[in-house]
Amino acid sequence: MPRIGVDYYPEQWDRSLWEPDAMLMREAGVTVVRLAEFSWSRLEPEEGRFEFGWLDEAVELFGRHGIGVVLGTPTAAPPNWLARRYPDVLPLDSQLHPQYPGVRGHRCYNSPSLNRYAAVIVDKLASRYAHNPSVIGWQTDNEFSLIACHCPSCNDKFRAWLQRKYESLETLNREWGTVVWSGEFGQWSEVTTPLGGSKHLNPSYLLDYNRFQTDSAVAFQQMQVDILREKCPDRWVTHNLWSYPSYLDYYKLCETLDFASFDYYPHTSPDKTETSPYSGALSLDLARGVKRKNFWIMEQLSGSPGCWFPMWRMPYPGYIRAASWQSISRGADAVVHFRWRSALTGAEQFWHGLIDHSNVPGRRFREFRQLADEVNRLAPLLEGTTVRNETAILFSHEQHIALDIQPQASGMNYFENVKTYHKALTKLGIGVDVINWTEPLDGYKLVITPSLYLLDWDTASRLAQFAADGGTLVLMNRTGVKNLNNVCRMEPLPGPLAECAGVTVEEYDPIGGDMHRMTCAGGSSYEALQWADILSPVTAEPIAWYADDYFAGKPAVTLNRYGRGTVCYIGTNPEEAYFIHLFGSLADELGIGRLAGLPEGVQVSCRSKEGAAYLFIFNFTREDKEVNIGREYDSILTGGKAGSVLRVAPYGVEIVKV
Ligand code: GLA
Ligand code: ZN
Repeated sequence: MPRIGVDYYPEQWDRSLWEPDAMLMREAGVTVVRLAEFSWSRLEPEEGRFEFGWLDEAVELFGRHGIGVVLGTPTAAPPNWLARRYPDVLPLDSQLHPQYPGVRGHRCYNSPSLNRYAAVIVDKLASRYAHNPSVIGWQTDNEFSLIACHCPSCNDKFRAWLQRKYESLETLNREWGTVVWSGEFGQWSEVTTPLGGSKHLNPSYLLDYNRFQTDSAVAFQQMQVDILREKCPDRWVTHNLWSYPSYLDYYKLCETLDFASFDYYPHTSPDKTETSPYSGALSLDLARGVKRKNFWIMEQLSGSPGCWFPMWRMPYPGYIRAASWQSISRGADAVVHFRWRSALTGAEQFWHGLIDHSNVPGRRFREFRQLADEVNRLAPLLEGTTVRNETAILFSHEQHIALDIQPQASGMNYFENVKTYHKALTKLGIGVDVINWTEPLDGYKLVITPSLYLLDWDTASRLAQFAADGGTLVLMNRTGVKNLNNVCRMEPLPGPLAECAGVTVEEYDPIGGDMHRMTCAGGSSYEALQWADILSPVTAEPIAWYADDYFAGKPAVTLNRYGRGTVCYIGTNPEEAYFIHLFGSLADELGIGRLAGLPEGVQVSCRSKEGAAYLFIFNFTREDKEVNIGREYDSILTGGKAGSVLRVAPYGVEIVKV
């Protein structure tokens, strides 16, 4: 059931403020708070001395006001005594310099001391609050990121990880191709983490190191999850993800969690408030895709962000509410705002909360109150609803990392290209799931695969089967380039998908920032950017051709009938308008439901369950917009009628029962 909450730091406020804060929260409609995720130094002020009294009191207070508590395990900020007495806690960078305490995140997931002391504090917390009715669930740590640590433990564990994967040094040498530049290893002791930090290191080595460090974060979290499950089996466990692009594989990180959570800070500058909600929509769809189910927002924009960079603009009237409803419309079941009040001390004094330093609730607080009121009112209707789509984008953390290790052309970026596909679909009013590339594809009509640069035969056959069974598959350039060990394949591109695409790449040109054009069958013309595959159709039909340079007249995009389905291959990275044109016509051919004709900056999303569906409409611009929704519906937001042509105010929201 959707609910509204705030992040609260009792340890940062005078005790006399706790009660009035809790009362005001209750009055404003807050039903959940997150506490304690950075409070290790207050929970264990010195080794083995625990102080839970203050947290007991805070939990009791919120419970008394009917506010559920999410407790964060405090492991993202190890206290100074821990780092001083056990320096192995601190990560070492590729030059072997430690990351000092003072910020947070100064901990190596493989550090024996960190693991030992983290297990103790998590165990104490879990045991203490296991049966506390006010504690509704747990957040592990805070915004895990990939830590490229080179300490002795990381070295030992990396070596053991490689031994498990490759078994013999001979296999590792062969699979990585270490013969290049005399890099062959003669003994396991020569294999270290990639020291020196050079971009010239072997890409197979760098990719495996990234996978290993993801596994290190996963193992560190799993140690905590195991304790929480054992000591506190009746509560859920989640983690708050930072937005993509991340170096950490969120799919692996969330495998054993109950649901994923995401921290959402859409940009507030006037020039970004139209584009940022589009990339925000992608982030929210990614968050839903991590576990293929509804998720939580554990931190949501509440005021101007800033601190170590100049402050952004204050959220424009309506923006906080609209962005929170946007989260819910894309599958959030709770939106917890960061933070209740702006901090008086510390590095984040100007990362504004709902209430300013003055402690006088103002415009943003009133808007939050309205939001909480609406969400609480509509929660029973939205209970059990989720987002269902017929279109999917297959996101791949592995491709993102491999392409980050070796960028293919100037200005070409995996995640930015995913944003373009997603934005085109969003502008077309097509709902899309963004799921891991390894997920089953049942129920989808249209599947878009951003570059499958690393590709194995299993994945290729699964995708070919999807098309053969009647699906429409859209493949991008830089597909089938390498095997999963980041080694180039010796066969015409797109490698294992060449047969189902009915086309091969005769030659390619990394055109980078050079401007090129392509022309479609109907005569329309678009920019062809970043990359040019010069295509040689086998069974496929060209549907767009390059318009200039030495490859003028050569096919740039092809369509192949394959089994009962269709495979489209896009050899370049055309401008957004082309994707709108292509996805729009594919969706119409496939009968994919959409709300056509959305004005720029207007987004829609639908949540439904058996027997009920609700359409959310947003205007993320600073002008009124007219949106044709086809006919008159009942507005569940206002309780009145919503006409077939809706007028939506700047940052306005409408929710209708369809
Ligand atoms: C992240 C963290 C929060 C806070 C905000 C603002 O999202 O999880 O603790 O630091 O950033 O910087
Ligand atoms: Zn380490």
